Amino acid sequence: MKQERFDKIISTQFNISRRDARIAIRRGKATLNGKILRDFGALVDVDADITFNGQALNYKQYIYILMNKPKGVLSASSDKKKQTVVDLVPENLKRNGLFPVGRLDKDTTGFLIITDDGDFAHKAISPKYEVYKSYLVTLDGKLTDEMVKAFADGIVLADGTLCRKAVLTILGENTARVKICEGKYHQIKRMFGVVGLGVNELKREAVGGLSLPPKLKEGCCVELSLEEIQAIFTNS
Ligand code: URA
Repeated sequence: MKQERFDKIISTQFNISRRDARIAIRRGKATLNGKILRDFGALVDVDADITFNGQALNYKQYIYILMNKPKGVLSASSDKKKQTVVDLVPENLKRNGLFPVGRLDKDTTGFLIITDDGDFAHKAISPKYEVYKSYLVTLDGKLTDEMVKAFADGIVLADGTLCRKAVLTILGENTARVKICEGKYHQIKRMFGVVGLGVNELKREAVGGLSLPPKLKEGCCVELSLEEIQAIFTNS
């Protein structure tokens, strides 16, 4: 069974600083298996019966939060001036070390995972694992079958970078779904730029086999289960 220092468990799981955790533990605010434990350095089983300020602990090594990112917010952990996606995470889901998995542009909306699990983030982003990201796009001009073919062949960006094959599905005269399995800087906008179109609206609707829940409003978050996290690695 996994063991951790008592102050570490209290600080990570209840989102307080290590110093505050130690003070509170010393003051008798935490219990282990029904008894107050004041020894903040004690090694404790992470799935023991632990409470803090009367609240029972449900230990989670990592947290996975799905946000419907609104426009105008930075995909970053913190910023001196601008609001970030991590600033929007509600208090009950906040933890130290949260970061967004990949970046959506400031004006892009939709599916964004925020976590403290670096290995998961690497797997979800790395083109090696071929996790497809699906976007709904509104363009400033007419889509053609030639563009569908160009995306399928692999677009060469203006700076000579070759993109992997992408799936472009025309939904209307100037609306489309695009699926890509990599995340180059401004990739979708630059790919459409190559075929002569500008992007008016961009929304990410799914990553791998997990879609944005239709009821999740912009700026809102839900915590994902481990099963939902696994669905990301099954491409749909
Ligand atoms: N491609 C873009 O151009 N912008 C995004 O935010 C995501 C993909």
